[in-house]
Amino acid sequence: MARLRTRFICRECNAEHSKWAGQCLDCGAWNSIQEDEGLSSSGPAAKTLGRSRGRKVALGRLTGEEALPPRRLSRIDELDRVLGGGLVPGSAILVGGDPGIGKSTLLLQAVAAFGREGANTIYITGEEAPAQIRMRAARLGLADAPVRMAAETNIRDILTTLEAERPDLVIIDSIQTMWADHVDSVPGSVSQVRACAQELTVFAKQRNVAVVLVGHVTKEGQIAGPRVVEHMVDTVLYFEGERSHRFRILRAVKNRFGPADEIGVFEMTGQGLAEVANPSALFLAERGEDVPGSAVFAGIEGTRPVLVEFQALVAPSSLGTPRRAVVGWDSSRLAMVLAVLDARCGISFGGQDIYLNVAGGLRVSEPAADLAAAAALISALSGVPVPAEAVLFGEVSLSGSVRPVPQPEARLREAAKLGFSRAIIPAQMPRHGESGMNLREVATLADLVPDLTDSGA
Ligand code: TYD
Ligand code: MG
Repeated sequence: MARLRTRFICRECNAEHSKWAGQCLDCGAWNSIQEDEGLSSSGPAAKTLGRSRGRKVALGRLTGEEALPPRRLSRIDELDRVLGGGLVPGSAILVGGDPGIGKSTLLLQAVAAFGREGANTIYITGEEAPAQIRMRAARLGLADAPVRMAAETNIRDILTTLEAERPDLVIIDSIQTMWADHVDSVPGSVSQVRACAQELTVFAKQRNVAVVLVGHVTKEGQIAGPRVVEHMVDTVLYFEGERSHRFRILRAVKNRFGPADEIGVFEMTGQGLAEVANPSALFLAERGEDVPGSAVFAGIEGTRPVLVEFQALVAPSSLGTPRRAVVGWDSSRLAMVLAVLDARCGISFGGQDIYLNVAGGLRVSEPAADLAAAAALISALSGVPVPAEAVLFGEVSLSGSVRPVPQPEARLREAAKLGFSRAIIPAQMPRHGESGMNLREVATLADLVPDLTDSGA
């Protein structure tokens, strides 16, 4: 009989430890080890494989005859694009996000849309009662959509049902509520989440059923349960946004069937999520004219140009260590830009609290945003506004030079489309085609300073 013992598993790297510790010795993560009761997978019982009993597997060529089955479209463009051009049959998809951000809403709308396009769809909920789902469906105007649903958490029963029904698409909301009866631990524990995700992804491949797993994200920003779920599935989508904002962004962080980093933009309304076809207009909608500390970044998210506003506020600090509060951008990137401004441009923010926001709830990770962030910071300090008709992009290096970034034409085109007439861009940018924009080239961050301080005005 297998021996039951308590083991400890690192949420980050899935390493197994015999006792609890504050730091994982394998990956170095802190506070990531959690208790997990289950069958020991390693230990003295593990034997080496003999060479005799295997079966010779058939080997094939890279060019196969089988044509890929066509992708299914939901006709929700923002969703289809993030999936890489529609849903791949038999794929396993993880949709992660904070509780309450709108995952269940999104997936109920998605499953109804695929159903209306002719797919056989099933929605399994482990979190809500059928009556709640029906109420939500009615509110979203989806009561008549051809979707079947069940409230169930037992994976064995779910798989038996799916085996009999053979749908095209099934939603499991959420993976943390599911349990497999052969695993001896509570739902939501590392080994349950892993076992259930494993069963479902294997089923997806074998039966050519697309499976969407919903996963809640922990405080640390990880899908609760082991990272290994992310490795098991084909596609990992994150649904993000500030709860206080209406905008929601669906981002592909991994996609075996399409580009990663693609985003879809939605707006949470009283009737569910509405697509936002022109996110730039939305992100810039609340922008005031000629306010110091505001700079518009012409960015690229996935395959699409998106304009967003960087807002900075600088105020004398009463704290020994001034505050550095960043929303929507990387705080270590802010530290770097501040250090470059200090060392290369002689602009010091010592003794000042700094608040930096990306308006609208988007998270920007492109290095190309450095120049816009720097402009917002300089302008906030000097009180001289960045010209309202200008966009910026460029990566700032430690030497203080402004480096070229990919896809300048797409950025300029989007800016021109939204009525901007000027762009502050890196010097020596290879340029093809005319954008009709008034271009100001800066080779170093120091070149930008006179534009945004009284000395230059
Ligand atoms: P939900 O999809 O339940 O979030 P999750 O599954 O990620 O936990 O969405 C919860 C929030 O969305 C809730 O606070 C109410 C809001 N909401 C709307 O604003 N409009 C709607 O039409 C719906 C269905 C929800
Ligand atoms: Mg939910």
